[in-house]
Amino acid sequence: MKTIAITGGAGFIGSHVVRLFVKKYPNYKIVNIDNLTYAGNLANLKDVESASNYEFIKADIVDAQMMFEVFEKYKFDAVIHLAAESHVDRSISNPTEFVFTNVIGTVNLLNSAKKIWKGDFEGKLFYHVSTDEVYGSLGKEGMFTEETKYDPHSPYSASKASSDHFVRAYFDTYGLPSLISNCSNNYGSFQFPEKLIPLFINNIKKNLPLPVYGKGENIRDWLWVEDHARAIDSIFHKGKLGATYNIGGHNEWTNIDLIKVLCSILDKKLDRESGASEKLITYVKDRAGHDLRYAIDATKLQDELDWVPSLQFKEGLEKTIDWYLENENWMENITSGNYQEYYDKQYNER
Ligand code: NAD
Ligand code: TYD
Repeated sequence: MKTIAITGGAGFIGSHVVRLFVKKYPNYKIVNIDNLTYAGNLANLKDVESASNYEFIKADIVDAQMMFEVFEKYKFDAVIHLAAESHVDRSISNPTEFVFTNVIGTVNLLNSAKKIWKGDFEGKLFYHVSTDEVYGSLGKEGMFTEETKYDPHSPYSASKASSDHFVRAYFDTYGLPSLISNCSNNYGSFQFPEKLIPLFINNIKKNLPLPVYGKGENIRDWLWVEDHARAIDSIFHKGKLGATYNIGGHNEWTNIDLIKVLCSILDKKLDRESGASEKLITYVKDRAGHDLRYAIDATKLQDELDWVPSLQFKEGLEKTIDWYLENENWMENITSGNYQEYYDKQYNER
C-alpha cells in the first residue's frame, strides 16, 4: 500500500488525476490536499468521494507548519503536486497571490517531503505538474522541447517557472527524487469557466458576448484533460528521476478558428440557425503580454513512455460540450456568488 498526496485535487486537472488514481489503483491511498479556492470544488469528485482509498484534507500549501504536520501524519510515499493559481488574467491583476501559492507553496511541499523522507529516498517521488507557458512564446515556426530555454512572460508563467527551478534545485542539491512535466492547454469537463473553452460554451449558451482578445490570432495547442491525466499516470510510474517530460496534443488552433468551431457545434446542439452563435463574437482589448503561440513537441514522452493522446480534437470538443450542456447545475453553482464580480471586472471594464 502506497500513500500518495495529490495537491489541488479539487481543481480541474487535479480532479481527473484523483479520479484516475483512486479507480485504477485500489492499493494506493490517495490523499487530496486542497484549500478549495474559487477554483477548487468538491463537486468535481462526487463519484470517488466515498471510495475507501480516498481522503480529502482541506489545507493551504502556503501554510508551512500545516503542510509539515500533514506530511508527518500521513508519511507520504509520493506527492503529485498540481495545486496552483492557474489563470493568466488573474495573475495580471494579482501577481502576488501567484508567488505565494505557486512558488512558496511548492517550496513548502518540497521542504515537508525532504523533512519526512530524511534522506531515505528509496521508492519516493515528488512529481511536479507544470505548464508549457514557462517556455514563453513561439513565432510561426518551431515547437517547445524539453531543452527549450525558460522565457516566461506572464506573472503566472513566471511563478510556475520559478517553482520548476526550485524542484530541480532540490533534486540537484539534496537529491530529492523528483520529476516535472510541462503540458499544453487542457480542455474537458470540470474546468472553471474563466478559461477560454468553458467560458465560451457558457456564454454561447446564454447568448452573451464572446470576448476575443486582440484579433484572435494567438495559437494554443489543446489536449483533452483525461489524456493529460493518463500521461501523468505513465510518467509517475515510468518516468526517470530528474527528468522533464513535455505533454501535448499536436493540436494547434488559432483562438478564432477554435471559437468558430465551438459556435458551429453549439448552433446545431442548441437548434440555432447556422451562424447565429458567431454573431456573439466581440473583439476586445488584448491581454497584456499575450503570448502568440504555444506548441509542444511530445516526442520524448511518446518514444520513452509510449504515450499518445487517445482522442481527436473534434471528438473531444463534442464530448466536452455535451458534458457542459448536461451539467447545468455544476455551472450554475460555480457561476453564482463571486464569479459575477470577477466577470464584471475582467470583461465589463475592458
Ligand atoms: P485549477 O485552477 O482548476 O485548480 C487548482 C486547484 O488548486 C484548486 O482546486 C484550488 O483550490 C487548489 N489550490 C489553489 N491554491 C491552493 C493552496 N494555496 N493550497 C491548496 N490548494 C490550492 O488548475 P488546473 O487547471 O487544474 O491546473 C492544475 C495544475 O496543472 C496547475 O499546477 C497548472 O499550472 C498546471 N497546468 C494547467 C494547464 C491547464 O490548461 N489548465 C496546463 C498545463 C499545466
Ligand atoms: P486561457 O484559457 O486563459 O489559457 P492560457 O492563457 O493559459 O493559454 O486562454 C486561451 C487563449 O484564449 C489565450 O490566447 C487567451 C484567449 N482568451 C480570449 O481571447 N478571451 C477570453 O475571454 C479568454 C479567457 C481567453
